[in-house]
Amino acid sequence: MILRLLIKLTHITIVLSFLSSCNKTKDIKAAVVSARKEASDIGISVLNKGGSAFDAMIATDLALTVCFPNAGNISGGGFLVYRTASGEVGSLDYREKAPLSAYEKMYLDVNGDVIPEKSTLGGLAVGVPGTVAGLVEIHSKFGTLPWEDLVKPAIDLATNGYIVTEKQERSLKSKKDDFIKINGKKTFYAQDFKAGDTVKNIALAETLKRISKYGAKGFYQGPVAEALVKRVREAGGIITHEDLIKYKPVWREPLNFRYKNLNIYSMGPPSSGGICLGQILKMIEPYNINQYDHNSEKAIQLIVEAERRSYSDRSKYLGDPDFNKISYNQLISHNYLNNRMKSFTFDLASESKDIKAGKIASKESEETTHYSILDKEGNAVAVTTTLNGSYGSKVFVEDGGYFLNNEMDDFSIKPGFANMFGLIGSEINSIKAEKRMLSSMTPTIILKDNKLYMILGTPGGSTIITSVLQTILNVYEFGMDIQSAINAPRFHHQWLPEKIEFENGVFDELSMKKLQDKGYDVKQEYNRVIGRVDAILVSKSGIITTGADPRGDDRASHIYY
Ligand code: GLY
Repeated sequence: MILRLLIKLTHITIVLSFLSSCNKTKDIKAAVVSARKEASDIGISVLNKGGSAFDAMIATDLALTVCFPNAGNISGGGFLVYRTASGEVGSLDYREKAPLSAYEKMYLDVNGDVIPEKSTLGGLAVGVPGTVAGLVEIHSKFGTLPWEDLVKPAIDLATNGYIVTEKQERSLKSKKDDFIKINGKKTFYAQDFKAGDTVKNIALAETLKRISKYGAKGFYQGPVAEALVKRVREAGGIITHEDLIKYKPVWREPLNFRYKNLNIYSMGPPSSGGICLGQILKMIEPYNINQYDHNSEKAIQLIVEAERRSYSDRSKYLGDPDFNKISYNQLISHNYLNNRMKSFTFDLASESKDIKAGKIASKESEETTHYSILDKEGNAVAVTTTLNGSYGSKVFVEDGGYFLNNEMDDFSIKPGFANMFGLIGSEINSIKAEKRMLSSMTPTIILKDNKLYMILGTPGGSTIITSVLQTILNVYEFGMDIQSAINAPRFHHQWLPEKIEFENGVFDELSMKKLQDKGYDVKQEYNRVIGRVDAILVSKSGIITTGADPRGDDRASHIYY
């Protein structure tokens, strides 16, 4: 009881302290909201120099590589969803790919059993990185400032150093043994960095200088590529120079659907984010969820049952669209989704074993990062980018100053294999050379009555979709301001495992009891945060507000009128 009270008080304190970052008194002209203050400030400095949201994106992304090494990256991948001031919408897929010599059973032993940690830790876990190619592609289409000017702030940050936060100290400490196991005792991030210390990453500054001078070639060719391939090989991986040279990002149509008078653009496959978000919202739509109190038993039930059905579809029907036919229209069609909800009743929990869908969803971890940007012209950018696990594969390219991703683990490494979250794998997301692994990343831009309304996204593995969903509902259906919508306690259900996960100690016990009585497996004691949403909201009259998630070190930076 006392512990629960303390947790509640801590939560309230954090919430109050961060409410101050939601600026409602001065009029905001432009904003960058990201996982770190340094990165948001760098994005704003680019906007102040006359750069666009796309220019700010590049500088913010590279700054996160320096000061948020657990997820910021030049060696992972991501997705951009954008809407220009003139109303053009689009998305860029710069997701990692399986190396050319990857194959379906590469993580299985001779008996067909999964070899522990092979897809998560060490060189074999590394997918072909897409980030630098993605950023260069965005610059060539939308950049207004010179490329070098956008890379320079990250070079300066790596050279002069960033300050370690308390959360970062804990994060680095928790992974130190893995860093040493994979890279040896002398590896850069095995130093005991404490909160307040300055981290200067000179090797990364040198890598960024080459990227500044040579663009994508500075990463995928020459000495940086040499060091990368050598390090991956030493750590047991299979990436070659040919893999690096062949990597290309892909412009794709964003996933688009309506919810009431909202017009929502999000990421389509190879992310499951857009389709699942669309499915869940459309399953909820007929029920007018705002007739129930926020996070009340009935509101939770409705969301959970829609999530259960959507995540079961995710497992069977979603994968890389370049390798599979995806039934986009059917999956988010009104009739199909109404049918999916026919078995739902408020009286009793559904059981996931009765929810027919395919065989599964892929294995994911929770470290990713999202940022949202709006410039003064009205260009909107939502970007989610990842190394997959925290610090990816833990393989550190010592000469290059960066960690490599472990995105291969987002493939289904064996049909029926349950991961640490109880998710099991399926054929549509099996490993093939040059295939992209299924993601849950959900960078999203929403229009209301045809005007820009919301830019948002979050890290959180399989909880990404449900965190974005709850933030949208909190604002649109439950009338919260954007910061309160982000702060509000979250819950998550993903079909399998059967349980509903709740953030610690912040849900009403009576609702929990009622849910249990209806047959729901309720796990409130599970100690976790769900998502770290960074968002921008534009009111009907054009007033901009921002929300940065207090669960992380996330911060909003602004330009004012
Ligand atoms: N690696 C997390 C995701 O792509 O969903």
